[in-house]
Amino acid sequence: MADPDTNNPSAEPAYWTLIPAAGVGRRMGSDRPKQFLTLGSRTILSHTLSIFLEHPRIRGVVLVLGPDVDPDALDLPTAGGRLFRVAGGAERADSVQNGLDFLQERAAPDDWVLVHDAARPCLPRADLDHLLNALRDDPVGGLLATPSTDTVKWSDQDGRVERTLERARVWRALTPQMFRLGMLREANRAAREAGHPVTDEASAIEWHGARPRLIEGSMMNIKITRAEDLELAQLYLMQQGRLDGGFRP
Ligand code: C5P
Repeated sequence: MADPDTNNPSAEPAYWTLIPAAGVGRRMGSDRPKQFLTLGSRTILSHTLSIFLEHPRIRGVVLVLGPDVDPDALDLPTAGGRLFRVAGGAERADSVQNGLDFLQERAAPDDWVLVHDAARPCLPRADLDHLLNALRDDPVGGLLATPSTDTVKWSDQDGRVERTLERARVWRALTPQMFRLGMLREANRAAREAGHPVTDEASAIEWHGARPRLIEGSMMNIKITRAEDLELAQLYLMQQGRLDGGFRP
């Protein structure tokens, strides 16, 4: 039977999520990677996955894990066949590429992919909805970001200030970062091949010559990096009513 949505520009596009979780997180100083630490009764990774697995517009979630992780030992949320596991690589961009290669077999080049750090469990649902709606028909895609409240300095090689960036135009890049599968896969591959540093997906897309759109998101969407971030994350999850198992200061 013919698909009534074919060639209909207003048809809902497909959205996938890719979660790189293969990092070791040395800055945390804990006995295991930060995404496997617990907030309430669940791991940070489990909190993060739930945001996407519970969202009706996300078709599937690709979870990229390190080679030493036993997936059966993880407290992964029930996913109804929407959660796929893939092995990670040495750098974040390598892990993302493995996830994109996996998606290539299942998704169309124009499908949207939302790449989201495993260590950002406090992404508010409203920010996710806003991102999906704002970028839905965008030719490039974009990312959640927050305007900088600090003045940002650009340093020289000796740790002296070379210049001051114009604060009104400085943003902090968050995730999810949302791009079309085909474009992101090609940009990420080319940037890695050229040895260009890729610390987020937008930098690969920029390097490819396109300009990702900045969508203002909440400061709550922190990346848990250091030990002191854990308490803040607990507080934000509690404020969102998402902290089961009680608050442990
Ligand atoms: O190291 P950083 O905090 O930038 O990592 C951001 C995300 O990328 C984390 O979720 C981390 O687990 C993931 N990552 C990965 N593979 C790597 C390095 C980092 O999936 N080789």
